Amino acid sequence: MTRVAVFPGSFDPITNAHLDVARRASELFDRLVIGVLNNPRKEPLFEVNERVDLIRRCVSELGDHVSIDGFDGLTVDFARRHEAGFIVRGLRAVSDFEAELQMALTNRKLAPEVDTTFLMTALEYGYVSSSLAKEVARFGGDVSAMVPELVAQALAGRLGVRPSV
Ligand code: PNS
Repeated sequence: MTRVAVFPGSFDPITNAHLDVARRASELFDRLVIGVLNNPRKEPLFEVNERVDLIRRCVSELGDHVSIDGFDGLTVDFARRHEAGFIVRGLRAVSDFEAELQMALTNRKLAPEVDTTFLMTALEYGYVSSSLAKEVARFGGDVSAMVPELVAQALAGRLGVRPSV
């Protein structure tokens, strides 16, 4: 049996915490599709195609069984399109739990055949989020512990600041 999982998110931009989850999920599943949500209600810093491109460059060493795709609409429809039986989400702290539980239960109601699996983010990335990385980068702070170098450069370029080292 082939185990396929989707790892949905905004990824605006991808962080080391996301990458840690993606790497570990890539070892658990036969195929992993990282899904980048095109959410018209949010005003992202990076367009979907830019986020997809950044992720592609960050996960290239994980193997051919990891792919990236943008999506609109429901995560469960995205999972079904990719014939995935699992949704992967990372959990950083207890504060993530309530929203994640609500999402997992909603998704199960919508698609009982798709199960949500959680991976605990590595301790060193427990504080990392895309929003925090953007805020630190915006004010010229050092984001090298939060995002890969190529993402730090993309952030600096987009925000018009010099990358801090
Ligand atoms: O990286 P994020 O912003 O925490 O990811 C949230 C995401 C994309 C997983 C969530 O907003 C989502 O699944 N959106 C798609 C719409 C959907 O399926 N809604 C119903 C389940 S809550």
